[in-house]
Amino acid sequence: MPTRVTTVFACQSCGSASPKWLGRCPECGEWNSYVEEVRGQKPAPSDEALAAPIAVAAEESEARAGTGMPGLDRVLGGGLVAGSVVLLGGEPGIGKSTFLLQAARSLAARTGEVLYATAEESAAQVRMRGERLGIREETLLLIAETDVTRIVAVAERRSPALLIVDSIQAVREPALSSAAGTVSQVRECASVLLRYAKSRGVPVILIGHVTKDGSLAGPKSLEHLVDTVVTLEGERTSLRRVLRATKNRFGAVDELALYDMTGEGLAEIANPSAALLAERRQGLPGSAVTATREGSRCLLVEIQALVGPATAGSPRRVAIGVDAGRLALLLAVLEGAGLSLASREVFVSCAGGLETAEPASDLAVVAALVSSARGRPVPADVVCFGEIGLLGEIRRVPAAGSRLKEAAAMGFRTVYLPAGDAAEAARFQDLMIRPVDRVAEFIKGL
Ligand code: TYD
Ligand code: MG
Repeated sequence: MPTRVTTVFACQSCGSASPKWLGRCPECGEWNSYVEEVRGQKPAPSDEALAAPIAVAAEESEARAGTGMPGLDRVLGGGLVAGSVVLLGGEPGIGKSTFLLQAARSLAARTGEVLYATAEESAAQVRMRGERLGIREETLLLIAETDVTRIVAVAERRSPALLIVDSIQAVREPALSSAAGTVSQVRECASVLLRYAKSRGVPVILIGHVTKDGSLAGPKSLEHLVDTVVTLEGERTSLRRVLRATKNRFGAVDELALYDMTGEGLAEIANPSAALLAERRQGLPGSAVTATREGSRCLLVEIQALVGPATAGSPRRVAIGVDAGRLALLLAVLEGAGLSLASREVFVSCAGGLETAEPASDLAVVAALVSSARGRPVPADVVCFGEIGLLGEIRRVPAAGSRLKEAAAMGFRTVYLPAGDAAEAARFQDLMIRPVDRVAEFIKGL
């Protein structure tokens, strides 16, 4: 039974409320801060919901359902947590609907009913996509609906193993007068779905479109509301997609999964290092391979550098997929080690559309810079990892053992690593280990 609700406009800056929209808040003077909100008689939570022993609550939050998609499960921290709300963000056309239809199918085949609410596309469109992907699970239910209260009503009746809402920007709470996709709608719809998830213990995945500047359109506040934020990224011009968690109340945030777009949907890349290195051209100056750690796994990625000719004025420093602050630091350290790039333009990137914010990739950035500046390639079988300190010292990194293991597995023969981590290398008989202690010594020996 729908309860009577009223709406007010509230200032997002100071919280003062008014029955109608105001361009400027009379209390705090903020412009365009009024957003419509639902006030009034929401169903009161039952007494049990208000107080339960801590041990019971912990047990409940442990219940996870594997989706049967290894990459997605890993990024979620080991599957979907009962009653959790996951937001899948990504640019339009990146593959969110396709990916979640695959996940829905996988879960429907394993666990039971999955309810896919499509508010953006018609049921026929989703069916056609399903046909193309060869999906005909009886337990995958479709509902074309934009009214969030009706979606929840259907979900309450069917009690699915998972509810997917595609997308949060296309659904509406009819009590609010504002249009779908506005901050007030998006937030209210998300909290309606959140209440459903928490009260019924059903996991809910929301699709959210990301604007060009990379923020989740409109509702930045949505990120605080949900338990987990997962993003699907990639260049439109490339078939590679990266799935990663940027917020996770139930797991780590540094896990990622790589996919390739195919005619049958997204296919997880079983051996990411091989895929990332496949496009690498050997024998060219300015390229070095490092072993980075992404969550529980290590990946080998190529760092590229281009050192341009000297320019008058202040030369450009461009870092893509590499931390710009660390690049500045490394250039300063190189200056101290006798390689001056002060007047030259410098471009550094992490190839393959990945990002590495890890200091452990410092050594490879330096190797790529030195290689480009000297016009001499780094030998193709070399991997470098190590953090570089301000004094030019090479510092230990976490998980040196698993980095070495990945390097050995991918057929690399020579590893430059921090002297402090050299002990880890004893068990890798096939690797030639080059412990380094100082940057000056490293660039001389390279
Ligand atoms: P879609 O899932 O509709 O993207 P989003 O929901 O993020 O807007 O995918 C966009 C288009 O790409 C769609 O026409 C289907 C196609 N596609 C493939 O052909 N193969 C794939 O693996 C994926 C993910 C998408
Ligand atoms: Mg879509």
